[in-house]
Amino acid sequence: MEPVKVGLLGLGTVGGGTVNVLTRNAEEIARRAGRGIQITHAAARQYNAAAIPEIGRIDVCDDAFAVVDNPELEIIVELIGGYSPARELVLRAIENGKHVVTANKALIALHGNEIFAAAQAKGVTVAFEAAVAGGIPIIKAMREGLAANRIQWVAGIINGTGNFILSEMRDKGREFADVLAEAQALGYAEADPTFDVEGIDAAHKLTILASIAFGIPLQFDKTYTEGITRIEPQDVKYAESLGYRIKHLGIARKTENGVEMRVHPTLVPERRLLANVNGVMNAVLVKGDAVGPTLFYGAGAGAEPTASAVVADLVDVVRALTTDPENRVPHLAFHPGELSDLTILSMDKVETAFYLRLTVVDEPGVMARIAGILGDAGISIEAIQQKEPAMGGVEISLILLTRRVIEGDMMRAIAQIEKLDSVAGKVVYIRVEHLAG
Ligand code: HSE
Repeated sequence: MEPVKVGLLGLGTVGGGTVNVLTRNAEEIARRAGRGIQITHAAARQYNAAAIPEIGRIDVCDDAFAVVDNPELEIIVELIGGYSPARELVLRAIENGKHVVTANKALIALHGNEIFAAAQAKGVTVAFEAAVAGGIPIIKAMREGLAANRIQWVAGIINGTGNFILSEMRDKGREFADVLAEAQALGYAEADPTFDVEGIDAAHKLTILASIAFGIPLQFDKTYTEGITRIEPQDVKYAESLGYRIKHLGIARKTENGVEMRVHPTLVPERRLLANVNGVMNAVLVKGDAVGPTLFYGAGAGAEPTASAVVADLVDVVRALTTDPENRVPHLAFHPGELSDLTILSMDKVETAFYLRLTVVDEPGVMARIAGILGDAGISIEAIQQKEPAMGGVEISLILLTRRVIEGDMMRAIAQIEKLDSVAGKVVYIRVEHLAG
């Protein structure tokens, strides 16, 4: 049988990696797919030919729409990234009756509902394993491997760049900007690295995971997003002294009141496996009612780990070429007509524990006034630590860990605490999750 012809859009880090993996492992991949898979055409404005030894076998142009409109091609792999023209290219490929493989989490998180509806109408597949957690097959695992379960929550380290930065800062005391520059050089970071450090990239991925976990439409605008830029070294140190590590987590949880979707720095007990996921590695913890907690771990960014997921999608699509569109695995795990309109909770309704750092004047009665405000708000304190003042100083740091509380109550209590004369400046707060199975 003739190999399946594929058009590739983008020859950057992941595009180059995809060509290299597909050519290096061509024989094994064909044995798995039942047919050869060949990238015959590609579109790229610029690329590093030296990093893609087999690039000479591909007809490369700079017009992505020409590739999408090429009638010889059955599958389009979109590795350009960003919202536009990726959206227009993917919709045009679908319109042309082609299957699509994409690593573009921004595109799926924001435009996935529209794209999947178009694909459904045309009877084609849009596969996006590489959009979440790089090389970890988390989409396949949740969509197929955990199909028996009511998924209760998902918590993951889903941005490799951010985890690399936090790990290097903690372990080697390196500067934020210096580590970010290295992540960019290694091809981990987004074209705009603020997407990594401000949590936007993780929020794209969390939005996708939440939809697949709970069978809800993609709702990126309702995902709470907070990055790692305001984490201070002293909080990393104090968290450690309490037995916690600070990780940048994406959390999706189904509660009686609705669904939580949130991305933020989080204190995680150091004994948890998730707390020990370092560098560019990602990990996703999924709690199903039948299976219990399951943990998926692997490289979250980089050329070949991401290419691994892209090529796995290509194999899946090739296997599905001859199947009835109605009987394929649904894009969002649940049949499109079965998606639920569950309420997405705003952050003031989310329940979580807190780490608080207060700068206070070291005088009698301060602790009692703070404890009084927390007590009146129904907030229990789990641990308190007082840090000694600097030589000759009168202000000390007070570290508190609370038990779980409704976030709105915590914010009101913090506002009251900040009004106390003996409290200086803003209260630093970081959410705490115990992630107990
Ligand atoms: N910038 C992303 C990350 C790439 O660092 O995780 C993989 O999606």
